[in-house]
Amino acid sequence: MIIFMCGIIGFTGNKPVKNILINGLEQLEYRGYDSAGIAVLDENGINIRKRTGKVAQLREAAMDLNEEAYCGIGHTRWATHGGVTNVNAHPHKSGRVVLIHNGIIENYRELITEYGLKNKLVSETDTEVVAALLDTLYSGDPIKTIRKAVDLISGSFALCIMFEDHPGIIYAVRNVSPMVAASFDGSSIIASDITAIIPYTKRYFVVPEYHILTIDKGSIKCEDLNGNTVEPEILEVNWDISSAQKGGYPYFMLKEIYEQPDALDRTVRPRVENGLPYLEEDGISDSLFKGIKNITVIACGTAMHAGMVGKYVFENKLRIPVNVEIASEFRYKDPIIDKDTLTIVLSQSGETIDTLEALRLAKRKGSPVLSIVNVKGSTIARESDYVLYTHAGPEIAVASTKAYTVQIAAMYLIACRFGLVKGIMSEEEAREFISKLENVRTLIEETLKSANTIKMVANRIMISPDVFYIGRGIDYTLSLEASLKLKEISYIHSEAYAAGELKHGTIALISENVPVIAIATEKNVYSKVISNVKEVKSRGAYVVLVSHDDKIDDTSICDMQIRLPEADSTFSVFATAVVLQLIAYYTSDAKGLDVDKPRNLAKSVTVE
Ligand code: M6R
Repeated sequence: MIIFMCGIIGFTGNKPVKNILINGLEQLEYRGYDSAGIAVLDENGINIRKRTGKVAQLREAAMDLNEEAYCGIGHTRWATHGGVTNVNAHPHKSGRVVLIHNGIIENYRELITEYGLKNKLVSETDTEVVAALLDTLYSGDPIKTIRKAVDLISGSFALCIMFEDHPGIIYAVRNVSPMVAASFDGSSIIASDITAIIPYTKRYFVVPEYHILTIDKGSIKCEDLNGNTVEPEILEVNWDISSAQKGGYPYFMLKEIYEQPDALDRTVRPRVENGLPYLEEDGISDSLFKGIKNITVIACGTAMHAGMVGKYVFENKLRIPVNVEIASEFRYKDPIIDKDTLTIVLSQSGETIDTLEALRLAKRKGSPVLSIVNVKGSTIARESDYVLYTHAGPEIAVASTKAYTVQIAAMYLIACRFGLVKGIMSEEEAREFISKLENVRTLIEETLKSANTIKMVANRIMISPDVFYIGRGIDYTLSLEASLKLKEISYIHSEAYAAGELKHGTIALISENVPVIAIATEKNVYSKVISNVKEVKSRGAYVVLVSHDDKIDDTSICDMQIRLPEADSTFSVFATAVVLQLIAYYTSDAKGLDVDKPRNLAKSVTVE
C-alpha cells in the first residue's frame, strides 16, 4: 500500500507564484518532509521541479524557474512506501495533466489494468495513476473529466489539478483528506490547512467533499458532482500569522510548550460564568448529559492520553464509568455503546482518519458524539453532534504539547458541567474545581522556572538507550504520555509502567544507571510510589523524581529531583506535563535532532 500524508498548496492570481508556493510549503512542511515539488503553469505550458529532502532543497532546485508564472501547485510528501525519490515526489504529470495528491487511491492497480495506463507511468505512486487516468479521459472539458475520474477512483484524496490548455486555473476535489480555500484581492489559494493561507487572508472555507472547485484569479466556483453551484460557509481564523511562526524560539515545540498558560486561558475562561462552567454558547446544553450513564472516549496517541486523564476525573470525582478506546481498535470492534453512552472524541487536527471512522461508528450505534477539537471546521468537528473547540492556536511541532493540556482542560470543563447537571457536584464544589482550573496558569509558569534543572536531566538521559517512566493513578497516565513524547522526538527507547507493575516482570530490565523517571503527585499512593522507587534505586537505576516534595537529599530515593508547585494532583497534571514535555524537548535538542520534524512522522495522520 502506498501511504501519503502530505501538505498541498495551489495559487493563482496577480502575484508571481513560485515563491508563494515554496513559502507555503515551508509552512506546511510539518505535514510531511520526505520530498517536495512544485509545478507552474503559464501560456508556454507546465514546468515542474521536485526534490527529495526539505523544502530548502526544492528552493535551490527551483532557482531557474520562471518568475513570471502566476498559477501553480506545490506539495510536501510523507511516504512509507513507494520510495523517497525525485521521481515519486509530486507533482505528477501525464500528458496534459499535472496534479498533486494527499490520500490513498485504493484501486490504483485495477485502474492501471482497466484503462491500460501502465505505459504512461514512470513512478511507483498511486497518484501518478490518477494523472494518467485523467489524461486518458480528457476531452477538453476539465470538469466533465474530473467527474468521470472521481466516479472511478476509490480511497481518500485531496487533489489539485492543472490542465495544460487551461492556464491560470486550478481544479480541486477531495474525499476525506482535508483542503481549505480562499479568494482575496484578485487571487485565490487552496491548501491542506490554513497555516499556508493565513499570510494572505483570515477568511476561508473548507472544501466540501465530492465537490469540484474551479479556482480562478480572485474567484472560486464550487459545484457538486451534478453541476449545481454550492456556496460554502465562510469561516474566519481567530489567530494570526505570528502564531504559526517560531517567534524567536529555536523550535516550534519549545514555543508551544511556553504558550500553554495562554492556550489554557483561552480555552477555559470564556466557558466560565459566575465561577461555574458554562457550555451553552458552544451549543452544549445540559439536556445532553441528563440521560447519560457512561462515557466512551475515542482518540489516538497524545489525544488518547489526554482522554485517560479525563477518565480519571470522571471516575474519581463523579463515579461515572469511562472507557478510553484507541480509535484504530475501536473502529473495527462491535462496541457496546448506545444512546446512554456519551462518546467524547479528542483530536487536535480534527482529521485523524482512525478517530474519524471511530466517531462515525459511535454515531451509527446511536451514541451522541461530543468532540474536543482544535482545528475549526475540521472533518471531526463537522461530523460531531457537539463540538467544544480548544483554543490552543496552531500546533506546528509534530510532538503535541499545548493541544494535550487544553484537551485535558476541556475534559475537566465537561466533567464539571456534567457533575453539576447530574447533581453529583454541588455548586460550591464546582466553583472550587473551576477556580483551581483557572489557576493552573500560575502552576505552569512556576514550573517553567525549573527549565535548567530539566535540561540537566535531559543531558543525563540523552546517552541512555532506554528510559523508564513510572507512576500510579493519574501519574501513570502522564507517564504514558511522557514516554511517547521522549520516543518520538529523541528516538530513545522508552516505556511507561504503573509503578506497582514493575515487579511483575519489567524490573528485570533495571540495571546500573538505567534512568527511571518517577512521578509521584498523588498523596494517597505517594508512599507506594516511593517504595517502588527504592526498589529500582537499589538495583542501580538513575532515578529522577518529579513530585511536590521539599528538597530530598536522600540518595537512596533519587539522584535528581524536579519539584512541582504544591497542588492537588488533579491540577498538578498541567505542571507535570510541562516538565515531561521539556525533558523530551531538551533530550532531542541535546542529541542535535530536528525536534519539530522527527523521522517517519507527520503531524496529521490522515491514513489508517
Ligand atoms: O490530531 P490528533 O489529535 O487526532 O492526532 C492524534 C495523534 O496522532 C497525535 O496526538 C500524536 O500522537 C502526537 N503528535 C504525538 O505527539
